[in-house]
Amino acid sequence: MLILGIESSCDDTAAAVWENRNTLLASVLSSQDAVHRPFGGVVPELASRRHLESVYPVVDEALKRAKVTLADIDLVAATQGPGLIGSLLVGFSFAKALAAVKSIPFRGVDHMAGHILSAFLEETAPSFPYIALIASGGTTSLYLAESHTSFVLLGRTRDDAAGEAFDKVAKLLDLPYPGGPQVARLAEEWHGELINFPRAWLEEESFDFSFSGLKTAVLNHCNHCRRSGVSLPVAQICASFQEAVIEVLVEKTLRAARQREVPTIVLGGGVSANSRLREVFAKRSRQAGKKLYVPRPAFSTDNAAMIALAGYYSFLKHGPSEMVSDVYSRSSLG
Ligand code: KG4
Repeated sequence: MLILGIESSCDDTAAAVWENRNTLLASVLSSQDAVHRPFGGVVPELASRRHLESVYPVVDEALKRAKVTLADIDLVAATQGPGLIGSLLVGFSFAKALAAVKSIPFRGVDHMAGHILSAFLEETAPSFPYIALIASGGTTSLYLAESHTSFVLLGRTRDDAAGEAFDKVAKLLDLPYPGGPQVARLAEEWHGELINFPRAWLEEESFDFSFSGLKTAVLNHCNHCRRSGVSLPVAQICASFQEAVIEVLVEKTLRAARQREVPTIVLGGGVSANSRLREVFAKRSRQAGKKLYVPRPAFSTDNAAMIALAGYYSFLKHGPSEMVSDVYSRSSLG
């Protein structure tokens, strides 16, 4: 069965052709980083306009690279939510129109399900159940994945997502957008003492996250340096901030795995591209006797291959989506 996946939840337009025996025939992505960089963050109106320009060429390119035509496609799957409504509407409506015109079944997909299942795009796939930490620019959530279609939300951020916190701290330090990779790069240069920024552990049993207090602590530290006429220790701030984020992500994820007696952890979302995060997770998972799966960055960041894969399993369980179905801004997974 050949599945065409389409993703347009935020600022990347993506399309992929995936075959259900786990062969990825093509995965194409058009990034909008250059469009949003001058504004220091994603501008929703510009994002949806750019999706409109990109969606047809990106889908066309994916079909060409896969050496197939629409006549070969058995299922069209598109991100239904969560995300920016204007962005989602472009990919979702385009996918519905393709499916209707060509009489192909259509399935709307929750973007988070795509991230949770993205490890299945790799050759060595995890076994259920596993704990999935999805940390990106729009979300930071912990799930218990019980099957390809059953996910229990254990915790989520109460304010900023981890990637959003990286981006905002980068902005405070006058680093270009997207800030995550910039903060990570500068953090690598610092080998000295770390500033003890706060970790928000929240209630003892909680698997929720909170990063806004940490961001404010960084702002206060910057203001203090500026008032005292001291030049900003940018690399030290980046390393200290990054360490605080990573410690909370790693420890809460491991606690969830221990509490649920689950042997496996899967990471997803743009922040999982962070090499220090991968290093600490690898070390702490080994110590805790847990298996760790981290898909390559092309699969852990926003992509359409994970939407095709999640759409396939969702279609097997629920059948096609109604053509009147609409996009949504909050995840349907809880
Ligand atoms: O999943 P993703 O590609 O898409 C959206 O959430 O839209 O995640 C993007 C986020 C951004 O906030 C970016 O700054 C962050 O992931 N990110 C990183 C790194 N690479 C990307 N954060 C920390 N370290 C990185 N190396």
